[in-house]
Amino acid sequence: MPPLGPRRQPSRRGSMADVPDDLLDQIKELEKIFSLEKDKLIQVTDHFVKELDKGLSVEGGSIPMNPTWVMGFPDGNETGTFLALDMGGTNLRVCEVILLEEKGEYDIIQSKYRMPSELRTGESDELWEYIADCIQQFIEYHHEVENLAELDTIPIGFTFSFPATQEYIDHGVLQRWTKGFDIKGVEGQDVVPLFEAALAKRKLPVKLSALINDTTGTLIASAYTDSSMKIGCIFGTGCNAAYMENCGSVPKITDYNLPPDMPIAINCEYGAFDNENVVLPRTKYDVIIDNDSPRPGQQAFEKMIAGLYLGEIFRLVLVDIHDNKNCNFFSGQDISKLRDAYTLDASFLSDIENDPFENLQETGDIFKQELGITAQKPELELIRRLAELIGTRAARLSACGPAAICKKKNITTCHVGADGSVFNKYPHFKARGAVALREILGWEKGQKDMVNIVSAEDGSGVGAALIAALTIKRVKEGNLAGIKNAERQA
Ligand code: BGC
Repeated sequence: MPPLGPRRQPSRRGSMADVPDDLLDQIKELEKIFSLEKDKLIQVTDHFVKELDKGLSVEGGSIPMNPTWVMGFPDGNETGTFLALDMGGTNLRVCEVILLEEKGEYDIIQSKYRMPSELRTGESDELWEYIADCIQQFIEYHHEVENLAELDTIPIGFTFSFPATQEYIDHGVLQRWTKGFDIKGVEGQDVVPLFEAALAKRKLPVKLSALINDTTGTLIASAYTDSSMKIGCIFGTGCNAAYMENCGSVPKITDYNLPPDMPIAINCEYGAFDNENVVLPRTKYDVIIDNDSPRPGQQAFEKMIAGLYLGEIFRLVLVDIHDNKNCNFFSGQDISKLRDAYTLDASFLSDIENDPFENLQETGDIFKQELGITAQKPELELIRRLAELIGTRAARLSACGPAAICKKKNITTCHVGADGSVFNKYPHFKARGAVALREILGWEKGQKDMVNIVSAEDGSGVGAALIAALTIKRVKEGNLAGIKNAERQA
């Protein structure tokens, strides 16, 4: 193996010395279109605040601001055994969570099942059958009984991480598929009966207590162990957040006549922010992503920052520069693999940003291995800069969501619980987001961070179990607001 050269220094100013003018011009242009200054972030956040308000109003706006019927936080005294099903994007996960007598303690066992990619664009029945199969396998594996009928019925919290209109917590009409899902015949339907029919067909001893969004689960699970937690966020395949409102501040549920100071969790679904294209600095690459997606015009914000799209934005730029006749970029190379849409995911960018070597050896290796392209040093410099620009734009724009919620609610200090592959794995995402929050919220130099985005507790496992427990507790107490099938819950 050739020597790798010295380890890379954080500042790489000198590294562009050998980059020829045509590529330097490209880099400058990319810096121009992908960089976001402080003023722009503030402008985006201020518009965001207005759109959050609009979503809560009777007229509504493009951010759905879905009431979830999760009416307050757990107090640590919830107990019992619950199943949790997590259908998020890439995997399916089934958990059994035992909330213990000791305040705030729990045990959890879980199994992950790969979600075949064909299911994302297949038929509705196949999806529900697959989900029920996974639950059946889980129960059979973890409960060694001859006959499932011997088991007591276990309540389940179903984390369905898509926008759903919920008139009740045990009900949810899919507004639209996101994250590249496109399964016919489900949009506009209540997903609960579809799920329950598949369970009933297999006579599984499971009853649905609550349909939950991953952000709401994250909020509840995180607040369970940290009372300064005010927002639950996902920065993963998709992006979104949930927070607590007072019923009295949600005009669109006035008709329910709930006590104005009763808390209710709101699933913002802010991936849909700026679908109208008013404020986000979309590049031509963002426009292509949107046009070629199954739902053009939807999830404008998400398409600029979420894990599903980062690799695709990167790929589109590289192909564009290669095809530019005025540039020498991958000249004479076969780039057919790079021409395949969605061939690169966010982990490809992570690997590039993680390359520690001055000569970008690892980046060169992955281009060779994954795409069959031999990249020269100046090309590698452009590649690295592009990954940094796309990753930094994602982190900085991502910060506008929680910042907008804080501004809207006049929260000056809190913790924000975050989960998702981009937050957990993408290099520098947390630090870049923290810098952006500081710029947006205007903390003094030297002042410590007032709003901290920290790793969340397991929202779609423990959070889902807690929400199921809270729902059952409410039924016992006769607080039936937003519960459809109280009998089933009892
Ligand atoms: C979905 C949200 C979800 C987010 C993160 C978005 O595409 O619409 O419901 O919370 O992804 O998983």
